[in-house]
Amino acid sequence: MFPTKVKRLLQFRNTLWGCAHCSRLVLGIETSCDDTGAAVMDETGKILGESLHSQKEVHLRTGGIIPTVAQQLHRENIERVVQEALERSHVAPSRLSAVATTVKPGLSLSLGIGLDFSLRFVRQHNKPFIPIHHMEAHALTVRMHLPVPFPFLVLLVSGGHSLLAVARGVDDFLLLGHSLDEAPGDMMDKVARRLSLIKHPQCSTLSGGQALELLAKDGDRSRFPFRTPMGQTYDCCFSFAGLRNQVNMAIMKKEAEEGIEQGTLLSCVKDIAAATQHTVACHLAKRTHRAIMFCKENGMLPSSNPILVLSGGVASNEYIRKTLSIITETTGLHLLCPPAKFCTDNGVMIAWNGVERLREGKGILPPNVDVCYEPKALLGVDMSAEVRAAAIRLPSVRIKIHN
Ligand code: KG4
Ligand code: ZN
Repeated sequence: MFPTKVKRLLQFRNTLWGCAHCSRLVLGIETSCDDTGAAVMDETGKILGESLHSQKEVHLRTGGIIPTVAQQLHRENIERVVQEALERSHVAPSRLSAVATTVKPGLSLSLGIGLDFSLRFVRQHNKPFIPIHHMEAHALTVRMHLPVPFPFLVLLVSGGHSLLAVARGVDDFLLLGHSLDEAPGDMMDKVARRLSLIKHPQCSTLSGGQALELLAKDGDRSRFPFRTPMGQTYDCCFSFAGLRNQVNMAIMKKEAEEGIEQGTLLSCVKDIAAATQHTVACHLAKRTHRAIMFCKENGMLPSSNPILVLSGGVASNEYIRKTLSIITETTGLHLLCPPAKFCTDNGVMIAWNGVERLREGKGILPPNVDVCYEPKALLGVDMSAEVRAAAIRLPSVRIKIHN
């Protein structure tokens, strides 16, 4: 008979390599911001069971994410969400090959709940642990449905991030640009709050970005000609704080003109929404256009069928997708976006990242390992200085989209 320690080691090796006939199964867990998500997936990318608890409505009522509130809601829901994903998949913990969990970047208090839960889980069930970078997961989600080969260019836009990177492998990214201040989703959430869109009958349950997209459909963007940020900076970084300031100034001016208090719906909300959405889209498009030109000049993308992947919560915006498609058509790239459901945070994308890493044997840790979360973490190797030094000037492209 083997001593217990050897038996546990053999069990660990079996779960890692699996048997020849059964697909390996991964449990993915996400708690980096305001969604508690879990999913069980097999090695082919088939979702066997999933569960998602969104905190959106609570944060809408409190006027933004309060980290201690997000932490408490994750704490109250994580066990149930994981249990639900396992039950729906009819998979017992003993059959899992690994547990993959977001450990960076994100809100410390939120990341901590998912990580503590996962470490207890992997120790209890003696399973390998795969720490996940949240933005890596957003970048790879598209490969769950389509066999997109590396390398490809990726634009990730969410409530916490905006970045452009070349994905060269599952854990191999070159970062071309990132946000210098706030993220586009965060900025749109703040504008929506400033406009009190929660009081708008059509928008009371929508995130800021969703609310602006809906209202913009009937708005006239030309009534508020906001300046596209960073016009004189020839790199691929982003800035949204200045644009938010421009929008706030316009709102204040209109409130004064209409003689109404802050907190009352303006008559021109639709026009402000349309102009804000358009300027966000143009800023993303221009930085992406420069990234494409940089990649072409440096042979960083394949010459045949080069691909731009657009993902993250803000990527569910149709107007932004259409704007980016004008850039890809102009430059000869092919634009791919995961379905909107998988652009926003969920456990499935974390499980898929776990599958990708398990297949390649990358970053798989034993159950007793100590892992810390990291609230801030760049994705890949930072090349933004090289991009800035290249100072690429853009040809003008006409962005005209009909609602
Ligand atoms: O990726 P995600 O679910 O969470 C983060 O990792 O941040 O993205 C959430 C963000 C929110 O800021 C939300 O306003 C934005 O994505 N968002 C949208 C749309 N749907 C969600 N922004 C613009 N248009 C949308 N349709
Ligand atoms: Zn996200």
